[in-house]
Amino acid sequence: MQEKNNLQDMNTAFTPITTPSPKGEGRDGGRIRIDIITVLPELIEPFTKESILGRAQKKGLAEIYVHNLRDYTADKHKRVDDYPFGGKAGMVIQCQPLDACISALTSERHYDEIIFTAPDGETFNQPMANELSLKENIIIICGHYKGIDYRIREHLITKEVSIGDYVLTGGELAAAIMTDAIIRVVPGVIGDVESALSDSFQDNLLEPPCYTRPAEYHPISNPDETWSVPSILLSGHEANIKNWEYEQALARTKERRPDLLDK
Ligand code: ADE
Repeated sequence: MQEKNNLQDMNTAFTPITTPSPKGEGRDGGRIRIDIITVLPELIEPFTKESILGRAQKKGLAEIYVHNLRDYTADKHKRVDDYPFGGKAGMVIQCQPLDACISALTSERHYDEIIFTAPDGETFNQPMANELSLKENIIIICGHYKGIDYRIREHLITKEVSIGDYVLTGGELAAAIMTDAIIRVVPGVIGDVESALSDSFQDNLLEPPCYTRPAEYHPISNPDETWSVPSILLSGHEANIKNWEYEQALARTKERRPDLLDK
């Protein structure tokens, strides 16, 4: 990526997250719906009800539903997993409950993506969150620590996503992270649209430092010392402040994540 040298470049570099997808699929405004399928609904449900995700749903901008996979099993003991063929250790989620849950959802509406969370999936990032935020209906299936029957991945899943190069015990945290990142860029969810657009990673730049009152702080360990806010931020000169913020963002990116500047 070429270094950007003025503020206008900085602004035009933002990803246009409010533009509907070119093929005319996905959302044209309106709400986004995310259905999460898990064996641990109690882990993920509270998360979807709080804070910004909770408010987004109350405002009618998003709908999030959590489905307990055990409600879809044909097994009388409510089992959803079984031993893997080939003698490996651990248990694997069976086709039947997943197929039943996905079929129940897809019989009601079209889904733009059926996502499976797995460490060997495509790595989740801000552009993917932006793209998914334009969809109308998404299913996220939380992986299980030993996996799900591979036939589901081959036949029903449209996208496999990892949140990073480490292995979690299940996909619930991955689904929560993805849901959070997707919903927060839906227009209207964050009051200050600029704030969502100017986050770290939206334009491959980390965020500049931010400060709040008091402008001069005396630390507890040494009250004679003064920690001052950079004077430019107190100057009231908007253009100079924006330039300073851009320079800071660029310098922090060069220092901490130079790989972002090559994208
Ligand atoms: N399940 C286990 N590890 C995972 C990861 N890194 N990303 C997504 N789902 C996972």
